[in-house]
Amino acid sequence: MNQEANAYQAENMNNQAPVMLVTGSARRIGAAIVKAAHRQGYRVIIHCHRSEQDANDLADHLNDIRANSAKVIVADLTIVNDGMALDSFVGSIIEAFGQLDVLVHNASRFYPSPLGSINHAQWDELLLTNAKAPLLLSQALLPYLKQQQGCIISLLDIHAHDRPFNNYTVYNMAKAAHRMMVQSLALEMAPEVRVNGVAPGVNILPETDSDQALEPTLQHSIVDSIPLQRIGKPEDIAHSVLYLIQASYVTGQIIDVDGGRGLTLAGGKY
Ligand SMILES: NC(=O)c1ccc[n+]([C@@H]2O[C@H](COP(=O)([O-])OP(=O)(O)OC[C@H]3O[C@@H](n4cnc5c(N)ncnc54)[C@H](OP(=O)(O)O)[C@@H]3O)[C@@H](O)[C@H]2O)c1
Repeated sequence: MNQEANAYQAENMNNQAPVMLVTGSARRIGAAIVKAAHRQGYRVIIHCHRSEQDANDLADHLNDIRANSAKVIVADLTIVNDGMALDSFVGSIIEAFGQLDVLVHNASRFYPSPLGSINHAQWDELLLTNAKAPLLLSQALLPYLKQQQGCIISLLDIHAHDRPFNNYTVYNMAKAAHRMMVQSLALEMAPEVRVNGVAPGVNILPETDSDQALEPTLQHSIVDSIPLQRIGKPEDIAHSVLYLIQASYVTGQIIDVDGGRGLTLAGGKY
C-alpha cells in the first residue's frame, strides 16, 4: 500500500474510533486517563477550566501522534446551574467528534472544611464539582451515550464510604453522594449504559503550593498506612478506568485502587 493509501486508512480508522470525554483532564489523574485511552485508539475530549494551556499542550501532543484525535473544551462546571449554558456545553461536546462513547467524571475540588469554618461557598463548590455536576452532566449526555451503548466512569474516593477523612466532612459528603449516584444511575441507565466507579486512595498528592496541599506529617502517616508502602500513580487509576470500560458485564461497581489503604483504615493491622 502506498503512503497516501496508508494515510487514508489511518484517517478512516481514527474517524471510527470511540470518543471519551474526561472532565478536568488537563493535568494529573485526568491527563493520565486521557493518555492511556488515546494509546488504546480513543479520540479524546480534554475538558478543563483554569488549566487551558496544559490542556492545549496535551491535545497538541496527542494530535501529533494521531491527527484529529484530541480536542479541548474549556468550561467552569458551574455551567450546570444554567440550563442554556449546559445545553451549549453538551452541544460543543457532541460537535467535537459527532458522538460520545465514554464519559469520565474526574473534575473535583478537595480541601479541608473543619467544623466551625464551614461556609456556603465551600458547600456549593465541593458539592457542585464532586456530585451535582456529574449527575446533571450524566443526565444531559445520556441520549448520546445510549446511541453508542456507552458507559460512565466516576472518580470517587475510598473516603466516600464508611471511612471519612478527618476534617474533610463536606468533601466526604459530596463524594458519598457521587458514590450513590453511580449505583442509582447503574440501575436507571441499564441496559443501554453502564455506570461504574474507581475509588483512589492516595494516587497523587495535592500540589504543595495549592490550597489543597496536605501537611507533611499527614503525608508521612498516609504512606505508613498503605500496605503497598507507596503513593499510587495516576496510571494505576487510568488502568482501572480502561478495565471498567471493557468490562461489558459489570455495572454499579466501585473498585478501590489504594494499595490496600482501605484495609488499614477499616481497622486491619499492617
Ligand atoms: N489525587 C488523589 O490521590 C485522589 C485521591 C482520591 C480521589 N481522587 C479523585 O480522583 C480525581 C482526580 O484527582 P486529581 O487529584 O487528579 O484531581 P485534581 O487535580 O484535584 O482536580 C482535577 C481537575 O478538576 C478541575 N476542576 C476543579 N473545579 C472545577 C470547576 N469548577 N469546573 C471545571 N473543572 C474543575 C480542575 O481543572 P482546571 O485545572 O482546568 O481548573 C482540576 O485540574 C478527583 O475526582 C479526585 O477527587 C484523587
